[in-house]
Amino acid sequence: MIGVFDSGVGGLSVFREIYRLMPAEEYIYIADSAHCPYGSKPASEITERAARISEYLIRSGCRMIVAACNTATAAAISYLRKNYPDTVFVGMEPAVKPAATSTESGVIGVLATKGTLCGELYHNTLARFASGVSVVETIGEGLVEIVESGQCSSEKAESLLRKYIGPMIDTGADKIVLGCTHYPFLAGTIRKLYGDSVGLVDPAPAIASRCEYLVREHSLSSPGSRLMFCTTGRNAGILEDMVRANFSGIEARHPEFKTIVI
Ligand code: DGL
Repeated sequence: MIGVFDSGVGGLSVFREIYRLMPAEEYIYIADSAHCPYGSKPASEITERAARISEYLIRSGCRMIVAACNTATAAAISYLRKNYPDTVFVGMEPAVKPAATSTESGVIGVLATKGTLCGELYHNTLARFASGVSVVETIGEGLVEIVESGQCSSEKAESLLRKYIGPMIDTGADKIVLGCTHYPFLAGTIRKLYGDSVGLVDPAPAIASRCEYLVREHSLSSPGSRLMFCTTGRNAGILEDMVRANFSGIEARHPEFKTIVI
């Protein structure tokens, strides 16, 4: 069984890619919406949440866990790998490399949470892959809450996106790294505001390929296919709506799929 977690519904942007590649596996998704957002919380608190969730997933039978959250990866991935050595962990990091190799203007924007942009992992990634380009970083304050409340196309979403992305484009950025797994759900609104003038870079497809490789490598494939979506918060309705909208054919394939509050 494969576990996937995030501070909330954002990780579904990663999970839908994993599911697209491997629809026949068994999965549990956990949205830690009661503790969302993680973005400006201390790393110790996020590590504590990531550990509790991982223990729940391991007890439920998961042998692979995807931290579908850049902020949780930045805070906790080393801790998780060290403390649960029998579990295969996959983490996220902002897709700086593909943005830096594909930019034509030599300027890239990175939109992420405070926790991600302040983390060592991100700084190592910058040092490795972004030495030849200019990077404009912006904290997407308030965007996670917008996605969690199902208001991705609202006026508030548009005004915050203008505030964060406008200056990046004015500085010359032609690629914007979506460095938080909630942000791909705002891609439609970004397109509405800026058309194709800027390329959006989302690491989710690459993470899904990595998961597929690791499932084969560690022989983790499950005999049956099953899907369970859990939330620690009060947003089971929004979670369920987002699952139906983003996992095409889910009801036909999994008439039994469940969204539960844990
Ligand atoms: N989806 C999380 C990430 O990728 C959101 C962080 C938050 O809860 O602030 O960073």
